[in-house]
Amino acid sequence: MCREGHAAYDLRMTFANFVGGSWVPSESGATFENRNPADTRELVGLFADSTTQDAAAAIAAARQAFESWRLVPAPKRAEILFRAAQLIAARKEEFARAMTREMGKVLDETRGDVQEAIDMTYFLAAEGRRLHGQTAPSELRDKFAMSIRQPIGVCAMITPWNFPMAIPSWKIIPALVCGNTVVLKPSELTPLSAVHFVQVLEEAGVPPGVVNMVTGGPAVGEMLTTHPDVAVVSFTGSTAVGRLVNQNAAPSFKKVHLEMGGKNAIMIMDDANLELALEGCLWGGFGTTGQRCTAASRVIVHERVHDRFVEQFVARASALRVGDGLAAATQVGPSISEKQLQKVMGYVEIGVQEGATVACGGRRLTDGPHAHGFFHEPTIFTGVTPGMRIAREEIFGPVVSVIKCGSADEAVAIANDVAYGLSASIYTQDVNRAFRAMRDVYTGIFYVNAPTIGAEVHLPFGGTKATGNGHREAGLAALDVFSEWKSVYVDFSGKLQRAQIDTESV
Ligand code: UN1
Repeated sequence: MCREGHAAYDLRMTFANFVGGSWVPSESGATFENRNPADTRELVGLFADSTTQDAAAAIAAARQAFESWRLVPAPKRAEILFRAAQLIAARKEEFARAMTREMGKVLDETRGDVQEAIDMTYFLAAEGRRLHGQTAPSELRDKFAMSIRQPIGVCAMITPWNFPMAIPSWKIIPALVCGNTVVLKPSELTPLSAVHFVQVLEEAGVPPGVVNMVTGGPAVGEMLTTHPDVAVVSFTGSTAVGRLVNQNAAPSFKKVHLEMGGKNAIMIMDDANLELALEGCLWGGFGTTGQRCTAASRVIVHERVHDRFVEQFVARASALRVGDGLAAATQVGPSISEKQLQKVMGYVEIGVQEGATVACGGRRLTDGPHAHGFFHEPTIFTGVTPGMRIAREEIFGPVVSVIKCGSADEAVAIANDVAYGLSASIYTQDVNRAFRAMRDVYTGIFYVNAPTIGAEVHLPFGGTKATGNGHREAGLAALDVFSEWKSVYVDFSGKLQRAQIDTESV
């Protein structure tokens, strides 16, 4: 990554941090470049290459703002968030186009990303008039018992590049509606979409210091995950970095929410509607260029339909049009970066060495319209066995491994036999099989007759094993990450009543 002093550049292309309600450059004056992965000749913008001091200033602003924001009635906090949802909706097309330029996925999908942010914002803003707790009877007379959700404090958020607006919204909106304040560190690869989201929150009337954004690299992340004034860390990204985040946050007992890798399987049974399964595998495996944590990177196919399925899957995958996501005909965009593309190519090599067959694809695309981007052919491996690395490790690219199985039970066993547990799906017409698989696959998300991608905002999102650490975001589960319970007892008897000791005679 090229780092330069920002002063020499066109200021319209230069984006600052947002700290305490002001847009401010890094105290270092340094910036980093954000380039279009479909054509790296195109500079999307220059962003603040922030230091630990910048991060500390943002945390201080958030800490100060918390004292007043936590006291703003939740329905009032929500009104601001509803306005934000309307503003995003009004600028949806502009935001989607900018997102395709900075991260490459096709325009339909970046529209979907922005839509997901709109949906999440409406859905969780509505919690401003709920945030329900419980009331319960007391075991003692003239005593009232209830539980309420309380904000926790400064929430640090570290977000990835594959859903550059949706994922910040999954974290920021529930944090705000609960009464917390925020410091966001977006991925260095997609800071523009984060800037857009924060601009909208500012315009909607979020008070100074309530939302702060600091762009930059690991130094910022380290400060956010270790600073004593940060109470919550919410991270989406790789399992390796998630482990580091957890370790950083442990000494100061932060609440840590982690959403990490996946190796999601589609299981296709011998009674499946094959055409439907085929469409699901193409969308689940190659949508977003395979760069979703929910991507269907494994397809486990019953031996009775295996050959028929593979023949069609290969034909259809080879016909996918790879290119610039802004071009109407494109179905698969570029990888996000040279590093990511090298990872994909590395895994193709590993698969070949392991003895799997490249049934289609397998190569980088470098000619003509692909000359200046990070393009790779949609790639299918067949003859994959469950022990191979390409069947176990997250690749995060347009590579799908097809594994043959002999029964639904075997498919479930293979699906479970990986380190991750985010999403899985089964294609079958047999309701008994579908429900058994739903029960027995150990993932956080499960689909029947649909691919492994496409979670909706009002249900919990997250996974088991190395995918997560027990929390869920989205849905009402998000409130559990960004609030904590306080149990409240009000004794109106006028005398000392001792729980567990004084007994009522009826
Ligand atoms: C991700 O891959 O990091 O369910 C998030 C889906 C999307 C979100 C994916 N709604 O595929």
